[in-house]
Amino acid sequence: MSTTIDKGVNQGVAPVTYGEGDRPPRGDYSRARADYTCEQDFARYSEADHDTYRRLYARQLQQLPGLACQEFIDAVEQLGAPERIPRFDDISERLMRATGWQIVGVPGLIPEEAFFALLAQRRFPVTDWMRLPEEFDYVVEPDVFHDLFGHVPLLFNPLFADYMQAYGAGGLKASRLEACELLARLYWYTVEFGLIDTPQGVRAYGAGILSSAGELRYAVTDPTPLRLAFDVRRLMRTRYKIDSYQANYFVIEDFQQLFNATAPDFAPIYADLRRLPAVEAGVQLPGERSFPPSR
Ligand code: PHE
Ligand code: FE
Repeated sequence: MSTTIDKGVNQGVAPVTYGEGDRPPRGDYSRARADYTCEQDFARYSEADHDTYRRLYARQLQQLPGLACQEFIDAVEQLGAPERIPRFDDISERLMRATGWQIVGVPGLIPEEAFFALLAQRRFPVTDWMRLPEEFDYVVEPDVFHDLFGHVPLLFNPLFADYMQAYGAGGLKASRLEACELLARLYWYTVEFGLIDTPQGVRAYGAGILSSAGELRYAVTDPTPLRLAFDVRRLMRTRYKIDSYQANYFVIEDFQQLFNATAPDFAPIYADLRRLPAVEAGVQLPGERSFPPSR
């Protein structure tokens, strides 16, 4: 389900379209510029906010060995001291030197096209507010912890950084082709819930997995979910779950495969897929193999 609300605010920015559920986004959009970015409201963080960040970071960090991919583990310290919510500008300085990316504040979820445009300019939008202590284990919308811890480390990886920019440009194109629903599945099953094969078994690189208390172990080690080989057409036909752990994941060989497989023109693929029925999450088609869980 998708809902459109009128933010009723400044300088004639378009209404916000947001994903699932019927609550309005909880951020303060009156602070946003026309491109939906805003200053990180650093003064607004309470000691409780910093403490929540510190505890979330510590809990996820100790889970990473054996579950997260090495590229993520190598880069996570680039976020800086884990005791307090970092300043976006400090991270941007390091990120700019590494891969030419910046992070920019946003009040929360933003419209699809604004999101694509930022990615295409190598600017990653990071929600600036912190979840409440009672949302420690689960928060419905992305917050500063999910966005920073989940997404930013891999932006330090040159190949993944280029993939994210290409995704943004591809999103602007998909908007024109009215294919955003198909392309959104690619984001979901790679950037948010992607797994990667390694000699030691599958590992996580998706932000939704890496920032989740329970799904990190589940996605990598539980025998229940399907772990299908990455294939653009198969993936873009596959629906996804928004309110539970995923019933299937897609496994890439490496980031080069992800980049190369998504480089061709998607227009003919969108045209084909529009004529095919979607596949429900968790369905194994004839002849498909599933990667085994790790450990
Ligand atoms: N190659 C895609 C297209 O032509 C663009 C794209 C690249 C989309 C990378 C997603 C990721 O539309
Ligand atoms: Fe995310």
